[in-house]
Amino acid sequence: MKIPKRIIKNLPPVCQLTASVVDAWGGRTYLVGGLVRDLLLDAGALSEANRDWDIAVDLRSTGKGLLGLLKELQNRTGGRYVFHHQFLTGTLMLPELRVDIAHTREESYPQPAVLPEIRPAGIEADLRRRDFTVNALALVLSGPETGTVIDPTGGASDLKHRLIRIIHPLSFIDDPTRIFRAIRFAVRFGFEIESGTLHLMRQAIAAGYPALLTPERILYELRCICRERNALKMLEAVIREGVLAACFPKSSGPEFFGVPVRQVLNELAALVHSGAGEELLMIYLLSRLPVNERFPITREERAAREALMNRNVLLERLSRVRRRSSIYQLLRGVPVRALEILAVLSPGPVRSRLRLYLDELMHVQPQLQAADLIAAGVKPGPQMGRMLERLLVARLDRRVKSRDEELALVHRLQSCNV
Ligand code: CTP
Repeated sequence: MKIPKRIIKNLPPVCQLTASVVDAWGGRTYLVGGLVRDLLLDAGALSEANRDWDIAVDLRSTGKGLLGLLKELQNRTGGRYVFHHQFLTGTLMLPELRVDIAHTREESYPQPAVLPEIRPAGIEADLRRRDFTVNALALVLSGPETGTVIDPTGGASDLKHRLIRIIHPLSFIDDPTRIFRAIRFAVRFGFEIESGTLHLMRQAIAAGYPALLTPERILYELRCICRERNALKMLEAVIREGVLAACFPKSSGPEFFGVPVRQVLNELAALVHSGAGEELLMIYLLSRLPVNERFPITREERAAREALMNRNVLLERLSRVRRRSSIYQLLRGVPVRALEILAVLSPGPVRSRLRLYLDELMHVQPQLQAADLIAAGVKPGPQMGRMLERLLVARLDRRVKSRDEELALVHRLQSCNV
């Protein structure tokens, strides 16, 4: 199978440059990874923004190493490289794109779910170690074979039949992140998970292999899913198949960590339908998962997660306040992301108060600032703080509407010694 020359010509120049350097050394260069799959599915895939560029080189017969190649490319392009000796991979960062360059390798897993040990090997072995047949395709970038697709596992046929199929039976055990990936690719492309693959995937889940993944890897997979256009369907499948429950083995039954699965799915659907993006979806998920301090989530995520976990107290209080300034005072300091989520998930009146805060109240400020108050005779210090707060409350409750009314209020308060 061949990819037309005109498509190869449209690859970024750094691909051709890598191929010509490696060619001159007597090695081989391939485009690998999801891009080859996407090119076979749709020749327009090259023009998609934020593409990953994955190149594999076979330098075994050249007497040169990957580090030498990265240095040469850095000299020729003015880019910057990073080299991971232990993984035989590198990245070349150019102003407009970054390219991952790896030596073709075979790998073995000393234990389930740990990162593999690798040794240089040819392209076929490199493809056979990969996750799914449709991702085990390589495009030759130089020499007389340029444009040829190398397909040792039947990936092109599976693409045609719309199937996600693992390459070897231990795939999900070696690397349980592939469970998330199988679901992600199947939903993204509208493919089916091939029946033998599905059986092995379910076996790996039932045997608890996802629990062996590090917190970083679990989070990485969740973030990848939340970024997808069809994140909802993927999350539904991940939850229904019990993948998340298997990552945190204390959960059980039809409950999703103490909440009915149905409720979690409904809430996710409501969020997605309201237009929530990856950040909100991720925070919502974190609030439903028992992530402990070992999970490297951002400070903002942790704060929003905690606010969501205490939602009942907050919503109950919110249901009892009416005054605009009271709504403000109750919600001030609660992470905005958590409030955006609650505004989608809460019932009528509480929802309108949350929306009022998010759309209007949180942006309200008195017109007078500290310097104006000093000019009006207010002393810096606690009195100033109290005065500013009173002004803000008056503004929120629409008791003052102009700078003059604010000044009049300041004078009134001064005369009562506030
Ligand atoms: N890969 C794998 N096993 C994994 C992760 C990755 O075998 N657990 C291989 C696959 O061949 C994959 C390639 O590494 O195609 C690149 O990984 P990644 O960029 O995550 O996947 P893409 O297929 O490029 O996915 P996307 O379209 O989401 O960029």
